[in-house]
Amino acid sequence: MSTYQEERIPFPSPWRLVKELRLRRPPWWLVALLLLVVIGTWIPLTLIYQARQQTSRLPRIHFFHDMDHQPKFGPQAAHPWYVDGRSMRQPIEGTIARGMLEHDQEYLLGYVTLDGTRASSPTRFVATLPERLSADSNLLNRGRERFGIYCAPCHGVEGAGNGPINQAAMALKEGKWVAATNLMTQMIRERTDGQLFQAISDGVRSMPSYRSQISVRDRWAIVAFVRELQQTLPVAAEPQEASSTASASASTTPATVP
Ligand code: HEC
Repeated sequence: MSTYQEERIPFPSPWRLVKELRLRRPPWWLVALLLLVVIGTWIPLTLIYQARQQTSRLPRIHFFHDMDHQPKFGPQAAHPWYVDGRSMRQPIEGTIARGMLEHDQEYLLGYVTLDGTRASSPTRFVATLPERLSADSNLLNRGRERFGIYCAPCHGVEGAGNGPINQAAMALKEGKWVAATNLMTQMIRERTDGQLFQAISDGVRSMPSYRSQISVRDRWAIVAFVRELQQTLPVAAEPQEASSTASASASTTPATVP
């Protein structure tokens, strides 16, 4: 018994099929329905195309909400339960958050006080990096990175006090602008590590505090990096001298020009 294929009969053309199977024309409504369905499939395509071309202020269509929207009180929100009407609560007096116990003053504050609290004034600044840190390449690289992020905008990448913010203030002739200190002067070199650390933590006069933005370890890393900068770069003239002599270095470091 031989099959269709073994006989090598050519595959019938559509026209021959229609003729031999005596197929009738489909009824008009079937054709119309088919056309409608095909055209209907273009609607989502058009919508997708439109969505891709246009911008919208409305949030995206969110099919699966999972746990994206939960009832909660955002920061600074009001809360009917509490007498003061705030949802944010103060920590209970006498509690200390994990890792915030100031038991190691030298490490956490950069200085030691008589009564052991941050509120009282420093009695002695830490002279060098605390023992638990070593000024290895890890710490220095971290310090270089953090210095670039938090200090260089004002103090400049080389600590000369000529960062972009400072330059902009000079260009705008901001009357009340206090130039960021040149960290390469002899005066700053003679500061102890603890003093530099405390300057970052609490701010200095018009310089803001960076305690909340930079972790303790990162603040020490920045101090270590500033020390490295001071070792590799020449000693800068004190600001007063720079303004009176108008030296060549003063023109490249606008920070030192009052
Ligand atoms: C917003 C700009 C700004 C940033 C950012 C900034 N500083 Fe300052 N810094 C200043 C200004 C301004 C002064 C001078 C303050 C004054 O004399 O009133 C200053 C002063 C200092 C001094 C001198 C303190 C002293 O005893 O005279 C040190 C050290 C210092 N900054 C280190 C840093 C370090 C480290 C960082 C990065 C963590 C940093 N600063 C980030 C603006 C800044």
